[in-house]
Amino acid sequence: MQVPVSQSFTSTDEGLTCDGVSVTSIVERVGTPVYVYSARAIREAYRAIDDAFASYPHAIHYALKANSTLGILRLLRAIGSRADANSGGEVQVAERAGFQLDEVVFTGVGKTWDELAYAIASGIGVINAESAGELDRIAQIAHARGREARVALRVNPDIDAGSHPNISTGLKVNQFGVPLQEAGAIYRERRGRAGLQFVGLHVHIGSQITTPAPLARAARTLVTLALELRDAGFQLEHLDLGGGLGIAYEDRPIAGPVEYAEAVVPELRRSGLPVLLEPGRAIVGHAGALIAHVVDTKRHPDGRQFAVLDAGMAELMRPALYGSYHRIVPVHPRAGAEAPWNVVGPICESSDVFARDRLLPPLEVHDLVALLDAGAYGSVMASNYNRHLLPPEVLVDQGQWTTIRRRQTLDDVLALES
Ligand SMILES: Cc1ncc(COP(=O)(O)O)c(C=O)c1O
Repeated sequence: MQVPVSQSFTSTDEGLTCDGVSVTSIVERVGTPVYVYSARAIREAYRAIDDAFASYPHAIHYALKANSTLGILRLLRAIGSRADANSGGEVQVAERAGFQLDEVVFTGVGKTWDELAYAIASGIGVINAESAGELDRIAQIAHARGREARVALRVNPDIDAGSHPNISTGLKVNQFGVPLQEAGAIYRERRGRAGLQFVGLHVHIGSQITTPAPLARAARTLVTLALELRDAGFQLEHLDLGGGLGIAYEDRPIAGPVEYAEAVVPELRRSGLPVLLEPGRAIVGHAGALIAHVVDTKRHPDGRQFAVLDAGMAELMRPALYGSYHRIVPVHPRAGAEAPWNVVGPICESSDVFARDRLLPPLEVHDLVALLDAGAYGSVMASNYNRHLLPPEVLVDQGQWTTIRRRQTLDDVLALES
């Protein structure tokens, strides 16, 4: 019997599979913990967004911050994606993955002088500038090199994205962008400034947004500002709506690419300007799972049951960082009644918890479990805390799998130390 448990993983009589490939067979070769991704799911998620915006001029700049492993970037580039880099490191990784730098937008709240200089010298597509001061630094750097930097100011529209406070970025209390009411003046004061070419406007109100209304409001706000700037004589080339489209981590339905496009395209039409999108999570989130072994089980006197995994907050930080939810499925579910389990990591931090009182079939030491929907903000946030080694990453494509990042070794880690 085959029961899909996510967009990428299926429960079968032979255990969990990723697009027909047995998860156990991967683990037998590379061990645990390991991230496993479905190339098909990544392509489908990309195409779903591309198709949803088919009626409007658009470009998808995949947000590297969600997952920037080269194997995944190359796959996305091959199907036409452009890139959104959130740091100088990501700009260079995009380049190494084969993106032309004029296909890259460079965002980030604290770009250093050197990062800006590198981006400008390499002819980056657009710099999404975070402040008036940053625009002035960009102008100085570009002018000194005899270049014109293409810039779009990031506007903070004071819109509640309705997501977790740690990943909402569009409120005036947040450090991102410039207040909406100041943006026009910032452009006007720098009109004709050597080294600057104002090509767009940018907004990104947060991540894991599950309803279209805040995204539509952000688009409306940006369009209104763009029309004001057009009246003032600025010839903008695009509007950048950022990322933020959420995925269904639980079984509740949420807005997908179609609802997103239906909400924002009517707003965008008032401007006629092409739109840039920076989705990250919506492209890779569902495609990946973190596979781990149960290394211990125990029952406390109050009846609480714990399953301790060989992966924890060092490998998948989201639950510890934002209390986020990941579905957990055993790779070979045992027969027996479901019972509440506390699924935890091996690190001595009380936040190293993946699930509390989660109903799961019986679990025993050596069992394999999959933490689903871990393709975004999973491996990229992994750390060496407790001297854990970064887990390998495996990409399943058309019945074959390849290791796109090998497991880190202790020698890799210690090579940096004297
Ligand atoms: C500026 C910017 N663009 C795009 C993204 C990608 O967001 P998401 O993964 O929610 O689509 C982020 C992430 O928060 C971001 O900060």
